[in-house]
Amino acid sequence: MAMERTYLMVKPDGVQRGLCGEILSRFEKKGLKIVAAKFMVIPKAVAESHYGEHKGKKFYDSLISYISSGPVLALVLEGDGAVAVCRGMMGKTNPQESAPGTIRGDYGMVTGMNLIHGSDSPESAAREISIFFKPEELVEYARSSDSWIYE
Ligand code: RTP
Ligand code: MG
Repeated sequence: MAMERTYLMVKPDGVQRGLCGEILSRFEKKGLKIVAAKFMVIPKAVAESHYGEHKGKKFYDSLISYISSGPVLALVLEGDGAVAVCRGMMGKTNPQESAPGTIRGDYGMVTGMNLIHGSDSPESAAREISIFFKPEELVEYARSSDSWIYE
């Protein structure tokens, strides 16, 4: 098994719309393990570091104000192939192109309010986790249900 960690974040629209529980519940029910969680307003400088790859794009300024506009639920989840599994559950960037059954496909209408962030590669995950969490905030524990989730 390729156990991986991924960085996920319920964005400010998801928090304001009362969807934190619904979104986290989907990942929990799927079998992903919660390793860390934090409720916070992202300082502008941190947002700029997190979304640095998009600097210079036409949506960059609005992206930075959106992601810093209110609290987010920051999460680290772990599982076999967690990065790709979670990206699949999120749906495409544009919620109107996201399949029904995905988070963006079920709850979103426009790209600028697409509810959730998820790391796009294990390398991005490592970088993003280190932006939002100190190493000691990543909780190591055995989960008794793992023997009923993985063969
Ligand atoms: P994310 O990083 O938030 O998980 O989203 P993503 O990988 O699906 O999409 P990405 O290309 O990384 O874009 C980051 C976020 O920027 C906003 N965006 N707006 N108006 C636009 O054309 C546009 N394109 C991207 C979205 O909030 C997107 O999630
Ligand atoms: Mg992205």
